[in-house]
Amino acid sequence: MNNIKACIFDLDGVIVDTAVYHYKAWKRLANSLGFDFTEHQNEQLKGVSRVRSLELILGWGGVTKTAAEQEILATQKNTWYMEMVNQMKPDEILPGAKEFVEICRKAGIKIALGSASKNSMTILNKIGITNLFDAVIDGNKVSKAKPDPEVFLTGAKALSVEPEECVVFEDAIAGVEAAKAGGMKVVGIGQPGVLDADLVISGLDKMTLDKLFKI
Ligand code: G6P
Ligand code: MG
Repeated sequence: MNNIKACIFDLDGVIVDTAVYHYKAWKRLANSLGFDFTEHQNEQLKGVSRVRSLELILGWGGVTKTAAEQEILATQKNTWYMEMVNQMKPDEILPGAKEFVEICRKAGIKIALGSASKNSMTILNKIGITNLFDAVIDGNKVSKAKPDPEVFLTGAKALSVEPEECVVFEDAIAGVEAAKAGGMKVVGIGQPGVLDADLVISGLDKMTLDKLFKI
């Protein structure tokens, strides 16, 4: 039995699958610049900030842009991305996510969001689960991107718990590293061979309180 007092959830790929929308928007941007963007490349952008994602994509396309041009391109991508996000409905919550958060809350465990996305609040509102979170730490509230632990440590602080009392749920390699760097336990959402976490499950529909207390 451990002394878990809080769970901190990443958003994209854990609570909701927005990767497909990121992919479509980045692909549209890459195509407008004259090169293609693959799903394999999109995989490498999980947990990576918008600015850094654009740098990587321009590098893959062999295109150089000034800082001012990059800002315009990142804004364009976000506009296209938000057109899709604004259509999101509560039925897009990943299987078991809402149920597991509710189970935790009933058990007295505090809940925070820890995401790199600056659009986190909009997405939570669209899928109708904002009120399940005691704290929301998103890309607007931190300056250092994962694998830096800032987002999760800020979450622990907001919940008034110690890092070792937190379990983080993450689908990105950089996110798993960030949780560990912060001294937290981490549950990977994905494939065991890819994520070096304390426990790896395919989705929150496979998570239970029993597993949480045995980590
Ligand atoms: C998450 C996603 C990334 C995305 C980042 C920033 O970490 O996994 O693919 O680039 O958030 O999202 P934003 O909504 O701020 O562009
Ligand atoms: Mg993620």
